[in-house]
Amino acid sequence: MQEEIQQQAGKLLGNVAGYVGMRTIEMGLSKGLFKEINRHPNGINLSDLAKNTNLDPFYVNVWANAAYASEVLELNGGGALVLAPHMDKLLLDAEFPGHVGAVFNVMQHPEVFDTFAKNFSSGKRTWWDEVSTDFIKAVSNTGRPFYNRLIPTAFAKVPGLEERLNKGANVLELCSGAGIGLEKLTKTYPNSTFTGQDGDDHSLSVAKKRLEEAGTSSKVSLLKSMMEDMEIENEFDVALINISMHESRDIDKVTQNVYRALKKDGIFIISDFPYPENMSESRNVPARIMSGIQYFEALIGDQLLPTKSYVELLKKHKFKNVAFTDISPVHTITWGTK
Ligand SMILES: C[S@@+](CC[C@H](N)C(=O)[O-])C[C@H]1O[C@@H](n2cnc3c(N)ncnc32)[C@H](O)[C@@H]1O
Repeated sequence: MQEEIQQQAGKLLGNVAGYVGMRTIEMGLSKGLFKEINRHPNGINLSDLAKNTNLDPFYVNVWANAAYASEVLELNGGGALVLAPHMDKLLLDAEFPGHVGAVFNVMQHPEVFDTFAKNFSSGKRTWWDEVSTDFIKAVSNTGRPFYNRLIPTAFAKVPGLEERLNKGANVLELCSGAGIGLEKLTKTYPNSTFTGQDGDDHSLSVAKKRLEEAGTSSKVSLLKSMMEDMEIENEFDVALINISMHESRDIDKVTQNVYRALKKDGIFIISDFPYPENMSESRNVPARIMSGIQYFEALIGDQLLPTKSYVELLKKHKFKNVAFTDISPVHTITWGTK
């Protein structure tokens, strides 16, 4: 009995420890502490770390203890601080396909937990046009590693896709958001042309600016439209949607609209989170993080979906050669051809 109580208490307190780690890592990123430690592969002592980051030495000491306890920092032989192995890539390198650093920032925005808690009784919803521009930026940073896994590595798993993109295809990106995917697509497949569609004005304006700065805006048309309202016919060789299909207001209508927008043999690729099909599959780290994302999804009136629903959806709407593959524990692609 006593042992069982201790075990159960351990489960609770493990969550408190996770929260401490989450806040510690978020501060380490936002205050530039990890970045500064990373500049010193042979180690940096606390006073230099405080001096170089312009932070209070005593507070830096408190932070470093918590970061060490969370296993993101190590001490070198001489007692100086170094990053734990691979944390430079995982936390600091936004272009690394396995980058997870952006998740820490997004989770501390009020749009994830605070607004949900405030609206718990009313069930009041919101949408992208009402969230902060900082939150849109934070979400787009979490989308970046999805694009970096897709282009070109995961795309190569979809039969015939890379060939078409390299040769020159007309591509629709649904819910193109802040345009990180469009920038990568235009640079990777210079023979192709692109249309980025999104229902949110601010996201489209960020995408426009990004593409102008990247020098690839001539390859892209931007279209303001809800996915449910698109009336395009026979225009595209490829349609892609990254971490947004689950946000459809009417997923059958959206799938029909995409089918109509594709040319014959056109490919539709859904890149999304693979939410567990059953509660019994939710007791693991990726699923627990996805269950956190569900708070924001609920606020905008949807939920992440299991991969099975995308497979069934594409089959239901007459797509051929429907298949899927897991890219990471939080990333699966599902595709089909017209
Ligand atoms: C999670 S963000 C992803 C953006 C981008 N694909 C990325 O990975 O960074 C979702 C985007 O989809 C757009 N969106 C969501 N539902 C939509 C709908 N039904 N019609 C049009 N746009 C929608 C939002 O405005 C937002 O820009």
